[in-house]
Amino acid sequence: MLSLILLMILSLIAFLITDELILKLKNLFINAGLYGIDLCKTDKNKIPEALGVVSGCVFLITCFLFIPIAFGNGLMDTQHFPHNEFAEFLAALLSICCMLLLGFADDVLDLRWRYKLVLPTVASLPLLVVYYVNFNSTTFIIPIPFRSWFGVSVNIGFLYYIYMGMLAVFCTNAINILAGINGIEVGQSFVIALSIVVFDIIELQGDQYKAHTFSLHIMIPYLATTLGLLKHNWYPSRVFVGDTFCYVSGMTFAVVGILSHFSKTVLLFFLPQIINFIYSVPQLFHFIPCPRHRLPKFSAETNLLHASRSIIIKKDMNVFTKVMLQILTLLRLVDFTEDNESITINNMTLINLFLIKLGPMSEVMLTKKILLFQILCSCVAFVIRYPLATYFYDK
Ligand code: UD1
Ligand code: MG
Repeated sequence: MLSLILLMILSLIAFLITDELILKLKNLFINAGLYGIDLCKTDKNKIPEALGVVSGCVFLITCFLFIPIAFGNGLMDTQHFPHNEFAEFLAALLSICCMLLLGFADDVLDLRWRYKLVLPTVASLPLLVVYYVNFNSTTFIIPIPFRSWFGVSVNIGFLYYIYMGMLAVFCTNAINILAGINGIEVGQSFVIALSIVVFDIIELQGDQYKAHTFSLHIMIPYLATTLGLLKHNWYPSRVFVGDTFCYVSGMTFAVVGILSHFSKTVLLFFLPQIINFIYSVPQLFHFIPCPRHRLPKFSAETNLLHASRSIIIKKDMNVFTKVMLQILTLLRLVDFTEDNESITINNMTLINLFLIKLGPMSEVMLTKKILLFQILCSCVAFVIRYPLATYFYDK
């Protein structure tokens, strides 16, 4: 308990330092050519980009400083030093640190999409090795209604490691593609992190308290540094967070999900990101053209955002694209106009879907609505995790 209080004090200091450092360093980023233009504003000022590297570094340093506090007892009595727990903590930090480095490389070099898939897989390897050595539990508990077919549990062996590697790839990229309006990357990560913290606090009384204490040790400094970044990234953004932040966040969530054994619950908190990913599949896999930016279109006359659109040339369409379009139209998930040669269709992101369904709105209102949806999804996740789970799993 004392270590958690000390961690909160450290995290408060980390918040203040992140806030101050971003203010001090942002011009250095512009001088180094690391800046972007806010595409949803009329003025075309240079906005420093990749400031997620600052919050990420402060987050990691806070975790490093916390090591002597968390493992203080073990350091006094080296005979009983908890080597397993220490290896877990170090592997978690190593994976996050790798992602920070790779994310920053992506921001500087603008890597291709295929590397965005490979990099998180490589960065999750230290984590998987520690999981193998410490737990190597690759068993899935089967929900009660399906037990007559599959039994109480199934051991999926090596496939479990593939699942965990893919979790890291999904978490990092899912946050990165629900992006493009001020405050949305940091806002959604903050809500997910807060949901994990609430879940940890509830579970601290249970028999998995060690795993949840581990999760809190990572999530508390993450929350504090993310809040420091959000202050500057909230509408109107004075800094952009870059892919660095999305990668660090995704890996942080994957790390706690895997090493604290609640990856399914973490996925429940990713409901909006899962919806956005599934909705994006036609464009991500190029069945429908995918422009470099899918963020909403800003109208200078009204100061409102509208759904952005892409053009499909009819003669380039294959059967698969036609069927997909018909299904999406039937489900009323797309808004399109067509002439003899082409179809103009909205870019398929959750952000554009909100604009289609609720009408054009200001950027800050759109961010708030999406974050509200993220919070509602977290509430649904808690309902699934607690009252509903008793119908599917033994208590
Ligand atoms: C992802 C999305 C892309 C979206 C972009 C916005 C996919 C496949 N990729 O690409 O559609 O347009 O994020 O971040 O879905 N920007 C703003 N306002 C903001 C945040 C960003 O205008 O609030 C613009 C700035 O010009 C900034 C750029 O987006 O420089 C950053 O884009 P980047 O993160 O490099 O895009 P991706 O992650 O590759
Ligand atoms: Mg990005």
